[in-house]
Amino acid sequence: MPPLTPRPFTRRRPAIRPPGWKPLILVLLWPVLLAAPAWADGHGEPAAQAGAAVQRGQYIFRATGGCGCHTDTPNKGPFLAGGRAIRTPFGTFFGTNITPHAQTGLGKWKEADFVRAMTQGVAPDGSHYFPVFPYTSFTRMTREDLADLWAYLRSVPPVKRANKPHDLGFPFNLRMGAWFWKWWNFRPGSYRPAADQPPDWNRGAYLSRALGHCGECHTPRGLMGAPVAAMRYAGSEDGPEGELAPNITPHRTTGIGEWTLNDMVWFLETGLKADGDDTQGLMSEMIENGYTHLSEADRRAIAVYLRSLPPINNALIRKNKAE
Ligand code: HEC
Repeated sequence: MPPLTPRPFTRRRPAIRPPGWKPLILVLLWPVLLAAPAWADGHGEPAAQAGAAVQRGQYIFRATGGCGCHTDTPNKGPFLAGGRAIRTPFGTFFGTNITPHAQTGLGKWKEADFVRAMTQGVAPDGSHYFPVFPYTSFTRMTREDLADLWAYLRSVPPVKRANKPHDLGFPFNLRMGAWFWKWWNFRPGSYRPAADQPPDWNRGAYLSRALGHCGECHTPRGLMGAPVAAMRYAGSEDGPEGELAPNITPHRTTGIGEWTLNDMVWFLETGLKADGDDTQGLMSEMIENGYTHLSEADRRAIAVYLRSLPPINNALIRKNKAE
């Protein structure tokens, strides 16, 4: 306990203390001392626990890249209030409002609704989400990380902004299509650590595959719009917003095989590539709002995991230039 009186005074204290000051303080403090544990039980601890969950949740949020599709950054839209157009070969999706606004956001959702949406791609009303919402990756998140992320999302300012309907071509405009797609392509499942790999590799795999969802952009998609497993991280000419997402396997000529581990860690921190160029578009947003805030150890773990991938020979052509 800190001294009740400043030190100089304590030192100059007379040898014989005036009687009775200790009991007096005790008497004065008694109600406070009695009430303190009850107050802590009633408010302090849960509040502190909730605060800690929000903080952990913010870290998870950043590990996902900052959920950039839910903020209309190009038009300076409010944080996480949706409306961002995401162009894909299947049509244009609009990121939804995920602030806790009761009518236009997730205000009425329960934690269980959130967990179901993230891990099974099912909305509270039972309808199915299109895989542009990367539940295909988030399904691997741990229950604890989901709870923390939910705590964080509850803590952001609610914004009133109605969602825009997606603008999709046939047959993707049919919600049934989302159901069919899932039935065909999607199996919910958690991340299971590989027993034969060290902890940093497993952490990196979890960060990349469950949270950072790198493969959602960097893996090419087949006709059905599902990432092609055999081409994981080999790059995609049709990334979101029509951007090319490069081959990030360690292939020497078509991937990033020339990058060192440190190049990768540095890139995730600064957005500067091994050749000194800075990254553009969505990737720079993901770094700025997300990956740069990760601990050095976590960025390194991602790099360790990526360096261990099988190199895939996949040269990509920037369509907008080639066409
Ligand atoms: C929302 C889509 C998206 C996600 C998610 C994403 N990326 Fe990217 N990434 C891109 C795009 C687009 C580019 C190209 C940017 C450019 O041209 O400057 C890129 C570029 C890169 C590059 C530069 C490669 C090169 O050859 O220049 C690396 C490395 C990279 N991403 C790694 C990652 C990692 C690791 C993750 C996950 C932790 C990740 N990305 C998640 C879209 C994404």
